[in-house]
Amino acid sequence: MQNRFSKSGSLRARPGSRPAATPLARDRVREARAVFLVGFMGAGKTTVGRALSRRLGFPFEDLDDRIQRREGKTIAQIFRELGEAGFRRTETAALCELLGELGSSLRVVALGGGAFVQPGNAALIEAAEVYSVFLDAPVEELLRRCEEEETERPLRQNPKQFRELYDKRRRSYMKADVRIETDGKDVDTVAVEVACSLGLE
Ligand code: S3P
Repeated sequence: MQNRFSKSGSLRARPGSRPAATPLARDRVREARAVFLVGFMGAGKTTVGRALSRRLGFPFEDLDDRIQRREGKTIAQIFRELGEAGFRRTETAALCELLGELGSSLRVVALGGGAFVQPGNAALIEAAEVYSVFLDAPVEELLRRCEEEETERPLRQNPKQFRELYDKRRRSYMKADVRIETDGKDVDTVAVEVACSLGLE
């Protein structure tokens, strides 16, 4: 479904509960080469990425898809065969390949939930001078979206572990150039907010 974060989920608005966005700091304004969407599982990185790509007319790329193509295996298979450490190695290799292809081409990129959390990857993204955007939502909303999806996520084991992992990672996501709250919004609204927050429309 194109304008929903999950297949059948209703979007529950909680107006005023959290700031809608953390704006782009002046010293982070740059010539946009690409927009990288980061955030936890269920944040809507892929769905918003597709909508944003249509709005801006930049091609869309999902890093997890690139990993699966390179390895000829699903993400779940890679986790099963190589463990998380092995998956992270393939993820960094795919990220380097993607960044190497950017040149002057514009692109919207959705990263997997753990990619921006790895300090080496975040440094590569920072050095590439692309925009990073944290798509945020309350952890209970992220959990609800993931539970409604059929996607197999090796790092979503149970609600307690999911909440703990989110808490551990949130500080890293906050290092993105901007943060956009997604709770209670449809996908196109979030895409517009991302574009406007970066001065791209
Ligand atoms: C991961 C999230 C997944 C995928 C892999 C690891 C994570 O992507 O990259 O299962 O570490 O949070 P999504 O965020 O698209 O589910």
